[in-house]
Amino acid sequence: MKLTAEQLKQFDDLGYVMLQDVFDPEEVGVLTADLPRIYEMDRPEVWRENTGVVRTAFAAHRYSEPFRYIGEHPRLIEPVKQLLDGEVYIHQYKINAKAAFDGDVWQWHQDYGTWARDDGMPEPRAMNIALFIDDVTEFNGPLWVIPGSHKQGVMAAGHDLATTSYPLWTLDKASITDLAFEHGMFSAKGKAGSVLMFHSNLVHASSPNIGPWGRTIVYLSLCEVSNHITQFKREEWIAHRDFTPITPLPDDCLRDLARSAEAAE
Ligand code: SIN
Ligand code: MN
Repeated sequence: MKLTAEQLKQFDDLGYVMLQDVFDPEEVGVLTADLPRIYEMDRPEVWRENTGVVRTAFAAHRYSEPFRYIGEHPRLIEPVKQLLDGEVYIHQYKINAKAAFDGDVWQWHQDYGTWARDDGMPEPRAMNIALFIDDVTEFNGPLWVIPGSHKQGVMAAGHDLATTSYPLWTLDKASITDLAFEHGMFSAKGKAGSVLMFHSNLVHASSPNIGPWGRTIVYLSLCEVSNHITQFKREEWIAHRDFTPITPLPDDCLRDLARSAEAAE
């Protein structure tokens, strides 16, 4: 899958591209079927909210076959190679659960701000793919982004260790007010199987989920291989140290997995 000239221009201008129906319900089904097993695991990668529900399952590609396929899927990897103009490796992999009622806030931040400060990533030649594996609506804490904010470069940030269970370099209210009053906001909604690709300097956040529907999004953070991190302060399952370029799997890999699971039943 390649992005069109119009999508490339949109990414350049706004810092994101939203793609609907990238994966079909059968493919999404193999992923959601493995979530209960993952969420029950007692391992450090499965990070919990202060209430005890799962916030994020880091590096799930290492302990789940369907999620490994997502980390090597050509429909996700090829457009990123096109945008970053080179081979890519997985810098970070996470399944963000945003549980019904208890899924907590993600404060305003830029991902590259963290990757530069904590991981010594040289340049913002890295980006995110958000794959929705639930329908994302106005009722379950969609991701909000500020269009065009990726052009600000790395903004001043404070290290927030208190608001949630997970430390984050966050932006202050005055900066968000200025940016949002100038550029507005985009709320990334769509059916399960949709994808949001966004620049690593794009300013984004999501509110707590006070609704009865969970909102699971898989975030693949990919970095161009020559731009790999140089500082190893964080756990290696948060900021990976394997810089091997990803070789994409065949396009049908998830469908094949769904069908072989069905045949085995
Ligand atoms: C993130 O910014 O890394 C996660 C945001 C979210 O899932 O709402
Ligand atoms: Mn982020």
